[in-house]
Amino acid sequence: MPVFTSSTVGLPDVREVPRHVAIIMDGNGRWATSRLLPRVAGHAKGVEAVRNTVEACARRGVEFLTLFAFSSENWRRPPDEVSLLMRLFMTALQRELAGLTENGIRLRVVGDLSAFEPRIRELVEVATARPVPAARMTLTVAANYGGRWDILQAMRRLLVERPDLAADPRLIDEAALEPFLAMAGCPEPDLFIRTGGEQRISNFLLWQLAYTELYFTDTFWPDFDAAALDKAILSYRSRERRFGQTSAQIAASA
Ligand code: IPE
Ligand code: IPE
Ligand code: MG
Repeated sequence: MPVFTSSTVGLPDVREVPRHVAIIMDGNGRWATSRLLPRVAGHAKGVEAVRNTVEACARRGVEFLTLFAFSSENWRRPPDEVSLLMRLFMTALQRELAGLTENGIRLRVVGDLSAFEPRIRELVEVATARPVPAARMTLTVAANYGGRWDILQAMRRLLVERPDLAADPRLIDEAALEPFLAMAGCPEPDLFIRTGGEQRISNFLLWQLAYTELYFTDTFWPDFDAAALDKAILSYRSRERRFGQTSAQIAASA
């Protein structure tokens, strides 16, 4: 696995096309309600938007796409909606897997899977173990994921594996923790997109979003398409990523 520079330690490589795009796919329920449909219909339509976005990102040369599918807080929803989301997740995994592999897309799932039914866990294991030689994009699905859970589980695993660091915590640095975070091996997101109009992070990749460019759109997730993605990428291109430096320094190094 390649090691990528942390944006708070070194200066990451900046490209025209974001190398890593992370998306909070929000607004399925409101999309459905505004059409007098049950919320479920919005989630089903949202799966289509996932398929289109995966394809559009791969075509544009995005190397890593991370999608927030279910948060650690989404268990608070009505049980019917939670079980429907689980069922949709399972069928989408089963239906889409062959197409992903054919298109050179490697699948990863991050989150606390211990809360899921054994059937889902098995499916995830099979799906993510499939070899995808010369993959052009890595698709990471965050399921029962929470940014705080991630940082805590990483710290716990680090201290178990490195008792020397537990004995002298001053030795713990970013580089020591990073391999234990759920997104280990992926560069930090360059572009974060949240659909559905809310302007919040909702416990998504708290550690990794430190220097990510944030983009919010009112478009509901089921309506998100290649054109909407291009708008977000265009906005990303107009930003000056300074990583703590001054504008003059950026200009001088260009
Ligand atoms: C996002 O859409 C999907 C999940 C959280 C699983 P929502 O279901 O949150 O849709 P709104 O925000 O209620 O419209
Ligand atoms: C965030 O959306 C989680 C996912 C898209 C999976 P929510 O709809 O759950 O976020 P809040 O509750 O409005 O912050
Ligand atoms: Mg929502």
